[in-house]
Amino acid sequence: MNLILLGGPGAGKGTQAKKLIDKYQIPQISTGDILRAAVKEGTEMGRKAKEYMDAGKLVPDEVVIGIIRDRLAQPDCRKGFILDGFPRTVPQAEALDKVLAEMNSKIDHVISIDVDEEELVTRLTGRRTCKNPDCGQMYHIKFNPPKKEGVCDKCGSELYQRDDDNEATVRSRLATYNQATKPLIDYYQAKGLLRPIKGVGSIDDIFTQICGILG
Ligand code: AP5
Ligand code: MG
Ligand code: ZN
Repeated sequence: MNLILLGGPGAGKGTQAKKLIDKYQIPQISTGDILRAAVKEGTEMGRKAKEYMDAGKLVPDEVVIGIIRDRLAQPDCRKGFILDGFPRTVPQAEALDKVLAEMNSKIDHVISIDVDEEELVTRLTGRRTCKNPDCGQMYHIKFNPPKKEGVCDKCGSELYQRDDDNEATVRSRLATYNQATKPLIDYYQAKGLLRPIKGVGSIDDIFTQICGILG
């Protein structure tokens, strides 16, 4: 099962991906997480990527396409994968089609999670994320608080606030989404792969909707 989770910043892509990993035992591939790991390691790519990320802009297509090409070639992707935050532009989607065709593979479903903008701002400015890169669980100070403030329920690591989760950067990420990523809704609709869902409601209700689509 090869899935794409499509949706604006804060739509719940990462939250739902974590639940899908547990249920279907397939890996989550988040370009955002991979880029943040590169920033933390201080690699050349990470240093360049950080400028775009802090401005709420997209990292250049060739960089993320290269990341995805390498990641999809890993053996754990053979039984399926969940793409979270990729593709984000039409050229990225076209490059993905090409990479998958070379592997005799294809996308099965594009789950498009719809949430209105003011809700996204509230979600992102209240988000807390686990520092442990092997966990990376997301929380929300109001909607999904951890049992103990500032500490991850799953692994006990400290929680932090992402550098791009301030209101100004969130607004810029929303504008980027509307301009560059929304056209993918039509792109996948035309291919008959789009599975739109309402992303408002409890995290478990949304997960049930997604599982209903996947069967
Ligand atoms: P990325 O890390 O992908 O960020 P994003 O797309 O902005 O999405 P988020 O991770 O912020 O949101 P999410 O949908 O995962 O929501 P979450 O589940 O955490 O990308 C970051 C940056 O990297 C980009 O800006 C860009 O610069 C670069 N980049 C990445 N990929 C790229 C690409 N392909 N091309 C170019 N550049 C790229 O949930 C959010 C919050 O809401 C949490 O607090 C959660 O607890 C809460 N929540 C979740 N579900 C619910 C619910 N149902 N009700 C209430 N609260 C909820
Ligand atoms: Mg995410
Ligand atoms: Zn954790």
